[in-house]
Amino acid sequence: MEAHKQLTIGLFGFGVVGEGLYKILQHTPSLKASIKKVCIKNKGKKRDAPAELFTTDRNELLSDPDINVIVEVINESEPAFQIVTTALRNGKSVVSASKKMLAEHLPELLRLEQETGGSLLYEASACASIPVVRNLEEYYDNDLLHSMKAILNGSTNFILTKMFEEKLDFHEALLMAQQLGFAESDPKLDVEGYDAVNKWTILLTHAYGILTHPEKLVFTGIQNIQAGDSLVAREKNYDIKLVGQAKKLLNGKVAAFVLPQFIRHDDHLAFVKNEYNGVVIESGFADKQFFYGKGAGSFPTASAVLSDLSALRYQYKYEYKKLYHHIPHELTNDFYVKAYLSFDDWKYIPREKFEWIEEWHAESQRKYLVGVLPFNELRESNWWRENNTSLILSPEPIIEDIEIRKLKKKSLELAGIM
Ligand code: HSE
Repeated sequence: MEAHKQLTIGLFGFGVVGEGLYKILQHTPSLKASIKKVCIKNKGKKRDAPAELFTTDRNELLSDPDINVIVEVINESEPAFQIVTTALRNGKSVVSASKKMLAEHLPELLRLEQETGGSLLYEASACASIPVVRNLEEYYDNDLLHSMKAILNGSTNFILTKMFEEKLDFHEALLMAQQLGFAESDPKLDVEGYDAVNKWTILLTHAYGILTHPEKLVFTGIQNIQAGDSLVAREKNYDIKLVGQAKKLLNGKVAAFVLPQFIRHDDHLAFVKNEYNGVVIESGFADKQFFYGKGAGSFPTASAVLSDLSALRYQYKYEYKKLYHHIPHELTNDFYVKAYLSFDDWKYIPREKFEWIEEWHAESQRKYLVGVLPFNELRESNWWRENNTSLILSPEPIIEDIEIRKLKKKSLELAGIM
């Protein structure tokens, strides 16, 4: 696409994000971008735009030679994949916000991009308004990127804020998140961590050159967190957040997961409330950096789509530098995590799997412990998310093998055994 060329857009989806983009484009004439046609599923719905703009025939957009950009912001993942791949094959640039589709199909999409020479941008797919994809891609060399941790899902962060700070109950808070247009049409995707792990999969590619599938990452959501856990958090001066974490270990491999975590009040992520998202990056020399912004909602998400459109005007495409120009990093499960668990009965907890248990406490209804587990145990078993058991990681949860050996040696010395 030539620089400053007029962008003629075919838009798929006129929901929260699509309508937001339509409105934003009416206020940004300098972008020289206009929507020629909008493809929707249900023609009957009343929409705040001229009727002649809409069609239900996707080929009217995909085969129109005037349309040089397809913006795809629909809910369903498989139709989104069909639209994006057809558009790339038809020589069009593509902007997508379908995080599930992207996370599940990145390897195929990358191959197709290379084959066709097209550009597929998706800044809106992770952390909505925060420009994190392009920053990870362009700014951070993966040798220097030590770790990143992030709040990636606006709805769960909104629910946790409303429940623990404003004392709403879970269903009330979820309903508000839905009414405000933050939640997925199936809110299980938010609440059970699927949306966050999809976003984490995308960010791992741009941060470390890791191409994986969301199902290969350990994750859960906020579904098992109980009122009692929030009391424990308050006693310890922590917040509870759903956090994506990735850390380069001493052996050069990367530990990555999405799990609930206790966050200290002086942690940058403690500042992230309601539908906001935040990303803390630790890199060599620069030390800590904090990205903060709205992670859900119509205009914040559409603003990232707009920025991708603007980037297309100067032929921008992701180079996937960490994947193609560096030696990509590998994921590892060979490390340990320190975690708090609350549960109904000791019979649900395989105590022999813990390296050690450093605190425990039993009340008539609920029991609590803090202990260190091999991460593989979380990967290979499900007891920690079944039977009403709630797992919340400690503030600095990742412990490397070498540290475990040192700590064990010290405790044996203290016991007078060595
Ligand atoms: N349901 C998503 C969230 C929308 O709550 O973060 C933005 O991706």
